[in-house]
Order: sequence, then structure tokens, then C-alpha cells
Amino acid sequence: MKLVNLRCEYQKNPIGIDVKIPRLSWQIESNKKNVLQKSYHIQCADDDSFSKQNMLWDTGFIDSKMSNNIIYDGKKLPAFTRVYWRVAVETNKGNTNFCDAAYFETGFLNTKWAGSFITSAKKFNTNGPCPVLKKKFILDEIPISARLYITAFGLYQAHINEQSVNQDILAPGWTSYNNHVMYQTYDVTDMLIKGENLITAVLGSGWYKGSFAMRYRMNFYGDTAALLSQLIVSFRDGRTKIIKTDESWKSGNGGILYSEIYDGESYDARIEDKHRSESYEQWENAVVYNKNKDIKIVGQNTPGVRVIDEISPVEIIITPKGDTVLDFGQNMVGWVKVSASGKSGDEIYLLHGEIMLQDEFYNVNMRTAKTEAKYILNGKGEETFEPHFTFFGFRYVKLEKYPGEVLLENFKGMVISSNLEYSGEFECSNDKVNRLFQNIIRGQKGNFVDVPTDCPQRDERLGWTGDTQVFAATACYNSLSAPFYEKWLKDVVYDQFPNGAIPYVIPDILFDTRACSAWGDAGVIVPSVHYKFYGDKSVLKRQYDSMRKWVEYIRAQGESETLWDTGFHFNDWLAQDGYGQSKTHGATPVHLVSTAFYYNSVSLLKDAAAILDYAKDVKEYSMLADLIKKSFNEEFVTPNGRVSGETQTAYTLALHFGLLYDTSIFKAAYHLAELVRREKHHITTGFLGAPYIAHALSDNGYNEDAYRLLLNEEFPGWLYQVNMGATTIWERWDGLMPDNSINLGGMNSFNHYAYGAIGQWLYQTVLGIIPNNGFQEFIIAPKPCGLLKNAQGGLDTLYGRIDSSWELRDDIIELEFTIPCNTTADVCLPLAHREDIQYDGEMTVSKDGLLMKLGSGKYSFSYSNEDTKRMIERDGSSDDVKMDFPVWEETIDEDQK
Ligand code: BGC
Repeated sequence: MKLVNLRCEYQKNPIGIDVKIPRLSWQIESNKKNVLQKSYHIQCADDDSFSKQNMLWDTGFIDSKMSNNIIYDGKKLPAFTRVYWRVAVETNKGNTNFCDAAYFETGFLNTKWAGSFITSAKKFNTNGPCPVLKKKFILDEIPISARLYITAFGLYQAHINEQSVNQDILAPGWTSYNNHVMYQTYDVTDMLIKGENLITAVLGSGWYKGSFAMRYRMNFYGDTAALLSQLIVSFRDGRTKIIKTDESWKSGNGGILYSEIYDGESYDARIEDKHRSESYEQWENAVVYNKNKDIKIVGQNTPGVRVIDEISPVEIIITPKGDTVLDFGQNMVGWVKVSASGKSGDEIYLLHGEIMLQDEFYNVNMRTAKTEAKYILNGKGEETFEPHFTFFGFRYVKLEKYPGEVLLENFKGMVISSNLEYSGEFECSNDKVNRLFQNIIRGQKGNFVDVPTDCPQRDERLGWTGDTQVFAATACYNSLSAPFYEKWLKDVVYDQFPNGAIPYVIPDILFDTRACSAWGDAGVIVPSVHYKFYGDKSVLKRQYDSMRKWVEYIRAQGESETLWDTGFHFNDWLAQDGYGQSKTHGATPVHLVSTAFYYNSVSLLKDAAAILDYAKDVKEYSMLADLIKKSFNEEFVTPNGRVSGETQTAYTLALHFGLLYDTSIFKAAYHLAELVRREKHHITTGFLGAPYIAHALSDNGYNEDAYRLLLNEEFPGWLYQVNMGATTIWERWDGLMPDNSINLGGMNSFNHYAYGAIGQWLYQTVLGIIPNNGFQEFIIAPKPCGLLKNAQGGLDTLYGRIDSSWELRDDIIELEFTIPCNTTADVCLPLAHREDIQYDGEMTVSKDGLLMKLGSGKYSFSYSNEDTKRMIERDGSSDDVKMDFPVWEETIDEDQK
């Protein structure tokens, strides 16, 4: 038995931790079964001998099953200090010794920065050249350690002695800049030398002051790009030296003529050369830039954006018009690293597009975003270029200009994303579903660029709240998304309006004071999803007030406290029902949707209150939820279980959010299944129904219909996109039509992750892995269907790996599960009967199968009975779906008597 994966603030051995009471987590690894932690003993010290005099916190053995997010409670942590920590545990199956020490390093905590924000003496226009700041300094010996703390208003890229410092790109990342800006911490020990050293930083406009947010306006947060940094150098004899940003720095500009998120970059290597050849002294001194002092400068505690992959183009296409276009084989987010040799003044000019239309390069859907990369060569041999402060969403690159012969090896696709740990896996017997799953992952990576965005390519790329909440659970299955969402949720709190309204986008850059259903509800849904996957009460607690304010905001709208029947709503965005070329809101009645989401938010708020022991709120919001449910049923549900609008989304929301009374659940489920069958298993929902429709079917007796909806290859549907060659998830079901014509609406992104929310159903229903309180107690209840022959996958949770797989072989079903230490799973063996299973423990029979509680370990089961045979026989070879709704028919008869 051993302890592994020690994490502080969700990261392994992080530096620059800027919280006074960090959270610590570990995992128990053992080949024994049923391992449960009984107590833990943590030691934190400022050296790794853990001697008494260096001890910061020694808990002794504490009776607790908690192994995640234990909140530090030792001596006050000093700034800029490395803290070593280790842990030992007692379990029901034996004890461990102290594990190998891990560490974290504190950042500023509340220490004041030594220097100030500085900027260039010359005023540059937005869209003008990027300012460069530099500083020479002397070290009288090689340091034993050096940390660079650095941030900017705008974006920065820093170098020390010509070596790139930034591991993160697009740093310092995007936050609600009027409230807080993150700083990064880099270990730069190896970059420094004895004697003269040079640090340089170039600044970009980025989200801070660029022409951004659908061109609504420029200079959102300020009109000046500025740098703040502090280099702390430590020597062997205990001395330290600080190099801070101040007026002694030099300022000017280099070869970046402009670099903008939407438009791309223009760079002239000749100008860069000229500026580099100027003497240091010739440059003007920088000037101090004093901005609002209330803006907090806080350490980054989420994975930064990095280059996560490099891909090679697969083909050079010469189009019928004669254009040269590179195909990178998949839709990707990032840029092209391009090499060329030519004369001084020769140009490279690249344009980025997502699709080819009628064999020609197409980029109309980028709207006003120029998405161009222009480089001018200095003519000194082979030159390699990459943009600095921009990124593109593309698969195809049109070479408008390129000197010399076009060779594939001179181009590399640099894929960027917030650098999360991805562990989610799903594979099944249908290769198209497997491709869909890969598209979901690619869609997430491309849209996790420091904030969760709607799309990565056109003049938008905003933290749309609706898109975020729709995809959050899928993202948490795919990857360790805890710190990523925690960062974003802080901005929900900062940017929420005083009346509780949550803006359409976070960070809010539209400054529209309206708020609408299902978008604003992200402020309640995302913290609830976070708790389910990570069990971190501190995040729920921090968000609670914001969650409550959102619910109270809705409650205050209109005349009725129990319906949300006023105001503008995006509604079931881009649904296929009730939607022509221009309509985008779908056919589901707007106030049915807003009231359904209102109910869902009140229910989640009530659950959060229960988790946090806020008894008064539990009572208040339980009562409110009951009243909303009553109003919803009076207003939108007939006694026969018909839900107003009779759309897929109307039934789905009513069923999935638990808005129906027992007497109408079966009826409504019947109507939904009937509707889906009438529509020949084509999905017609928009953003709001799509994540839940398969759950609504599977959870209410129509599992096979859910599978059919997924497996449908015709338009509109998930696999239709795959058949059309999608490598990411499209914004619209009809982005490209079967005849290859394109939806000409300007809004047509081929990398929008919202419909990728079907990923949650793949993990939760096909594999059956259902989180609860961070997976300490969870459920494994797969719902197989004969339309697939097998499915397997899982994810790394904070406790360790969970896997689930099943295979249908002849008439036998075989299942395997892995359950990590210090957790228990309520397992449901689908369609199993008591006599099928030899098991000594307690088992109960439910409508879905046989229930048992299992502790950690690996398990396999195999059985066969009349029910499994019937399920396996439904192999999809025949299209006739039996219309067989026994439960509903009985209920109806009863009612009508
Ligand atoms: C975005 C969406 C977003 C929507 C609001 C669009 O332009 O791309 O994904 O949620 O606006 O309805």
C-alpha cells in the first residue's frame, strides 16, 4: 500500500501558490480490496528533514476518511517559501509509513510588489507595434535559485538571456481584469549567469485592450499595455537580490507590427534586427504606469495555456482556382510554425479557415476576424516564425504568399490549450462513436483557452455562460477541470451584477445588464457539477452567495415568484424545430424553458445548502422548489403528461430536472419516446435539450431510443457530423448540409463544444459512472444496449482510476469495474437476477438490475438470462422498433377509471 499523486491546490509540486490555506490531497494505491482510510497524519515543514524546529504543521493522526482537499491549518505561511509535506495513513487494511515528500512554494501571499507596472515611453496605438521592455543587471555569482514573478496588463512574453521564460502562452491569462490579474511564477535559475544578464518582455494587447468581443469596442479594461515583474535571486550565502520593474528599464519596440487575438499577427524580421542592433543605452527609459490600485494581483492557480501538441500537415492542395492550401487533417486551435528561406523583404502570408467549400478555401465564417499571419523575412538563411499574442481555429491554411517551394516539412501545427490533465477514455464497438468521442475531446481542448469559450476562430471566443454550463459535466469526465472552473467561477462572483443577474459572458466584456435563463444558471450549475466531481466544499462555499443571489434575481422577475415568465432568453439555442434560416431560438415555449431552469437552479441551491449545513436555506429553497414545480405543472403539463410545446426539449427538461409528479413521469416519457420515434430518431433540440435528451430516455425506460438517437447517421445528428468529416463538434446541426452546402448565417462555427455534452451520457449511462461527492461514494450503473457490442472507459478521479466496461457475447453479458481505494460504489448489474450472481454480500433487486455495494478493487461479472438475451438480440439489424409501452398503458387505465 502506498500514497501517490500528492497535490496541493490540485497541482503536483506547484510554485507560486498564493493562498494562505492551501488544500492538500493524496491517493492510496493498494492491491488489496475494500481499502478505506481511517485516519491521516500530515506534516508540513520548511525543509525536507521534517525536524521539530522546522515544522509548520504536524496534525498527528486524525480520524478521518478525507484524503482530498484537506485545508492547511498550521503556522502562518511565509511568502516565497518552499514547504515540504508528507502524509501517512491508517486504513482498515493496514497502515502506510510517511510517503516521499512533495512540496509547494508560496508566492506573494500579501507581500507588496517591490516595483511598479511599467510601460513604454512611446504611446503605441492598439493595432500598432508591440512594446518591448528590457533591463540589464549584473550578478556577482551564479545563484542557487531564482524565481521570476511576472504579469501584465495585456499579454507578455519574457526572455532571460535570449531564453524563453514563458511556459504559459497568452499569459497572464484572462480574468475579470478590473478586479484581479493573475501573475505567473517561473523557475529561471538555469537561465542566469555570473556577470551581465538581460531580461526582456514584449507586450501584446490581448483580451485587455485589443479589438475584441465582437468588435463591440477596444480598450475594454484600459488603453495601456504594462508589465509588472519581480525577479528574486538567491545565493549560496543566504543573500538575495531583487530585480523589479521600474523606470530604470528601457523601452521601445521590436519586429511585431501588430498582434491581435482576432486578426492575427504581422511581424517584420528586418525591424526586429534593427532594434536588436541598437545599443541598450540608446533606448528610452520606461515609464511607471499607475492604474487603479484596487486591482488585485494574484498568483495563477490553474494550469496555464501551453502548446500541448504539434501536428504536421497531411496534404498540399492546389484548388481549382489555383490557390495553395495546407490541410492539417483536423480542426485545431493554435497556429502554424513556419520556416522559409528567402531574400530580405520576402513575405509569408497565411490565412486560416475551418473548411473547404466546393474544393476552395473558405473563411467567411470567421466574420470580421482577419485570422492572418504575415511575416517579412530578413533574408539571413532559414527563418522560423510563430505568432506571439494570437491564436486561430483552423484546419486549412491558405498560402497567400510564401517564398520558395512549399514543402510540408516547413509547416507545423502548434496546438494550444489550457494544460489540463486529460484522463477520460471511452471506446466502443462503433467506430463512428469513437470518432465522435475524440471530436468531443478536441472540441474541449480547442475551447479551453484560459476561459471556457464558445468557439476559438471567429470574432467571438467569449466565455458564454450557456455553453459553459452545458458542457461542464462532460469536461469534468474528460479532464481534471477543478482549478480551471474554479478560476472561472471567481469571475462569476466578480462580474455578477449587484442585483444578482449573471452576465451572458464571463469575464463580462459585453456589459449588457440583461441576464437570461440557462446562461445565467451557469452560476449555479457549474459549482454544483464541480462539487459532484471534486467534492470540494470550499468552492461550493465560496460560490454559495452568488448562487443564492442568482436564484433571488429570478425570483424578483415578473409578478410570480414561481414562474420565470418575463424578459429575453436565448432559449433552446439553434434547435432544429421551429427554426428557419434566421430563427435561432427553437420551438420550445420560452417560459417553459426559463421556469424549468429556474426550478433546476433552486433544487441545486437547496442541495448545496444541505451540503454546507445551511438548514434555514434548505427549508426555504425546498419550499420554493415545490411551489415552482406546482406552477410548472399547472402552467405547462396536461393531466395526460403532455408538456407544452411538445418538443423534444420540453419533455426532456421536464423529465430530467424532476419537474413532473409521479403520475405523469411515465406518460411524459412515453410522449417523448413517441416523438423521437416519429422524428425517426433525429435530434431536433438546440443547446438546452441536447445534453439531457439521451438521459431523459435512458432513465425513463427508453434506453434503446437513446442509443438510436446517438447512432443515427442521418441529418441532423451527432454521427451525421462525423460522416460529414467533422473532427470537432459543430455549432449547428446544419453547419454543412448533406449536399455539402453551407449554412450561410455568419454564425457557423465548426468548433463549438455545446453538442459535445452527449459525452456525459457516454460516461454516465453507457459506462454507468456517476459521480456524487467527488467520487468518494459513487455509482456504477451501466445501461448496455444490443446496438453496441461493447463499451469501455473511465477516468482518473481524485481518489484514483475508475474504469467500467461491458461486452455482449452471444447471449452473455460480461462486465468489469475498477474502484479506487478509499471509495465505495453502489453498483447496478444491468438486468441481472439474484440467481445469476454468486456473491456473499448483500444484494437487492431493482427495476434496472441487481444492486450491491462494492469497495475498492477490480471486479468482473458475467451472466445471462431472458432479459439480457432480449436486450442483446436488439442488435439494430432491423429498423422496426417495437412500440411497446406497458407501464404507461397500465397507468393511463388506472387514471381513467
Ligand atoms: C455564441 C453562442 C452563445 C450565443 C448566445 C453565440 O454567438 O457563439 O455559443 O451561447 O451566442 O446565444
